[in-house]
Amino acid sequence: MNNINKMAIVTGANRGIGLEITRQLANQGWQVAACCRDINQAAAALKPLQDQGLSIELRKLDVTRKGDCEALAKWLQTGEQQVHALINNAGVLMDNQADGSADPLQLDPTMAMETFNINTLGALRMIQALTPLLAEGARVVNVSSGMGQLASMGDGYLAYRMSKTALNALTKVMAARLANIPAGAKIRVNAVCPGWVRTDMGGQQADLDVSQGADTIVWLASSEEITTSGGYYRDRKPIDW
Ligand SMILES: NC(=O)c1ccc[n+]([C@@H]2O[C@H](COP(=O)([O-])OP(=O)(O)OC[C@H]3O[C@@H](n4cnc5c(N)ncnc54)[C@H](OP(=O)(O)O)[C@@H]3O)[C@@H](O)[C@H]2O)c1
Repeated sequence: MNNINKMAIVTGANRGIGLEITRQLANQGWQVAACCRDINQAAAALKPLQDQGLSIELRKLDVTRKGDCEALAKWLQTGEQQVHALINNAGVLMDNQADGSADPLQLDPTMAMETFNINTLGALRMIQALTPLLAEGARVVNVSSGMGQLASMGDGYLAYRMSKTALNALTKVMAARLANIPAGAKIRVNAVCPGWVRTDMGGQQADLDVSQGADTIVWLASSEEITTSGGYYRDRKPIDW
């Protein structure tokens, strides 16, 4: 796929895997709207990439705010800009604390709701706001986690796990919903586990660096090889739900 001047939207683009996705896509020639909730922190993180001449525009966006998602759509519309890839990367892992929240028997349901609001409904808000702007062949990539995989579901991290299992469900439903909207548009909606990655969330003991963690996400967003929709991937291969 010739990616020159195609538009990618990346949420949570100011650090971790999102920053690396932004870097890799921009290096392939994409224009990237880097969506971040703290604009000052993001400006410092993204400036070195912009200084290299990469086409990265910073947009203030909190995925829990429907108005922010709609304002992004309006900005794109005003510029007569279609979207070729939407990467729903923003996420939180709140229930990993020594305060007991990692134990499902002690989890405060409010924490589960906050997690769901970001990890699952954030992607829903973005898809709802941007679907009218999706170009033919556009990709929606939902950054999920193996922690949401029912096939290997274990103890702990209940809020995070539920939010990612639900994100996987959202992926399947939207893949079906967007299959023919508009007719023949061939929009692909897929979920991905990046692996265990060294970021603020993953910690420094994790297996992979951010470049490895972003690899399958960027591949799903940009490769001609992607012809299926409603899949769940890790290391560029389908995995069980
Ligand atoms: N690291 C891993 O091992 C791993 C494994 C499996 C899946 N994942 C998934 O990969 C994605 C990226 O994770 P990461 O490791 O890069 O995490 P990270 O370093 O903690 O970064 C999380 C990003 O999400 C943003 N974010 C959080 N809440 C947001 C909101 N309400 N609106 C907009 N942005 C928000 C953060 O912005 P702020 O800077 O403003 O907080 C930050 O940019 C997540 O969806 C995560 O669940 C990670």
